[in-house]
This record gives sequence, structure tokens and C-alpha cells, in this order.
Amino acid sequence: MKQKIIFCLPGNELLAGTLSEKANVERGKLTMRRFPDGETYIKIDSQVAGKEVLLICTLHQPDDKLLPLYFLAKTLKEFGAIRITLVAPYLAYMRQDTRFQHGESITSEWFAKLLSSFVDELITIDPHLHRKSNLAEIYSIPTHILHAAPLLSSWIKANIPNAVLIGPDSESEQWVSEVANAADVPYVVLEKTRKGDKDVQVSVPHLDGKADKTPVLVDDIISTARTMIETIGHLKNANFNAPVCIGVHGIFAEDAYLLLRQSGAAQIITVNTIPHETNKIFIEELLLTALQSKT
Ligand code: R5P
Repeated sequence: MKQKIIFCLPGNELLAGTLSEKANVERGKLTMRRFPDGETYIKIDSQVAGKEVLLICTLHQPDDKLLPLYFLAKTLKEFGAIRITLVAPYLAYMRQDTRFQHGESITSEWFAKLLSSFVDELITIDPHLHRKSNLAEIYSIPTHILHAAPLLSSWIKANIPNAVLIGPDSESEQWVSEVANAADVPYVVLEKTRKGDKDVQVSVPHLDGKADKTPVLVDDIISTARTMIETIGHLKNANFNAPVCIGVHGIFAEDAYLLLRQSGAAQIITVNTIPHETNKIFIEELLLTALQSKT
């Protein structure tokens, strides 16, 4: 069996530390900093020759991370690492997966090609697969998708008595129904139209006979939070209980978190695929099981 070593990019230390400790895998030492001009300095301080590397880097704000990730992966290989598995709990650039207007770049494909060119394998959690049905359509390396749905169901079951789940759009139906069924609660799915980055229209939820329940909005990504804020507005107008908002990947772009808090959400909960103070659902065990099954 090949020896393993875990490295991470800044911001991923907590997850890397837990995985290293619980899986009993060496934690790689690394010096990474920015030069005053913004360029990246990297020095690998551990022996990596002949070892398989687990590289932990969640990929929100990907433009800031991609070049350091590339330099690190290339340098690890240069010093003899035999395989690099990127563990990216949040996988970026999955939303621009088609050309809506002539001239647009299908960035999800270029991003996939770039990552596939310098890591050997990818493990991620609930990537936003919309018009693509599988990562293999755009990634040329082996990819492994883990699902947070069972974690969401357990959290809802343990924390929200009398919940009704609300999915924001038809593409979420399969996922939301799975979470609802495992939590043994009802669900409804809305219709969403996005007219711009922050301009989202969501249909009014029909919750006849469910007025006593706690609405739980579930989505894979909370980015501008406009999808959730718009839905909360409808629920308020219909005098429903204040909803709980659950997102797998809490990106919270710009002032999204503040606006969502001000919109009347009773609680905002995320999975720790992206570190944030709303993290209440944790992926460590899910990742450990996946990593152990790879050995
Ligand atoms: C998109 O289709 C996703 O499933 C989410 O609904 C979306 O990313 C949420 O974005 P925002 O928070 O910007 O409304």
C-alpha cells in the first residue's frame, strides 16, 4: 500500500487536520505566502517522493485559488508525489454549463479541462449538475461524487419537528424529495426564473393544509441568497412560520448573508463544504468513509 500525505491550501486547515488525525495520515508541511506584488510563493517542507497526496481545497472564490493550486500540484509531482487526489468539497464553475448567448464561454468545461490537466483524481460533494448528468462529461480524470442529502435528512429529523421542505426549482426535485423522504416529512417544489445575477423570481409555495408546519428551504447553493429571500417573502405574505434555510454550499456572495438574516429566516444552516459560521452539518465522516474505501 502506498504511503499517503495530506496537504491543504490556506483556509482548509480544519478539515485537513481532522482528516489527517482520524485517518491517521501524515500531514504535509508547506510554506505558502504572497509576495508583495501578489504573486504566490510555495515551498514544500515534507518528503513527498513515492507518496500519494490528498490535496484539500474547497473551491469557492476559485479565481484566487486556481494558480496556487496549480503551482502546488505541479511542484508536488516534481518532488516525486505519485498521485494527487484533489478533495474539493465545493466544486466551482459548474453553473455556466452552456452558452446562453453567442460569444459566451462555457467556463464549466474549461475549468474541468484545466483541473483535469494537473490533478489525477477528484472527490467532491454535490456538484451543481444541471444540464450535465455526470462529471465525466467534462472531467477527463476519475471523479467521485459524495452526497450530503442523508446528512441533511438526519439534521432535519433531529432538529425541526413538523417540517415541510421547500425546493426552489424543478431541477432540485429529485434531491429535495430524497431529503424529505429520508426525514419522513412532506415537500413542495417551486418554479424559479432567474433574470439576472440578483434578479430571481420564485413561484408562490402552495402549502394548503400545512400552515402549522415549519417551512424548511433547502438548496444546493446559497450564493446571492436571492432565491431564498424571494421565497421567504412569499411565506411571510402568507403568514407562515419563519422558515429555516438550509444550503449545502454556503457561498454567501457579497452581502448575501446579511440580507438573508434580515429577511426573516428563523435559522440559516449550511454544510461545512465551505467554512462559515452557519456550518451545523458536517462532512468529515462522509469524506473519511470515501477515503477509506479508496485504500
Ligand atoms: C441554482 O440553480 C442553484 O440550485 C441555486 O438555486 C442557486 O445557485 C441559488 O443562487 P442564489 O443564492 O444566487 O439565488
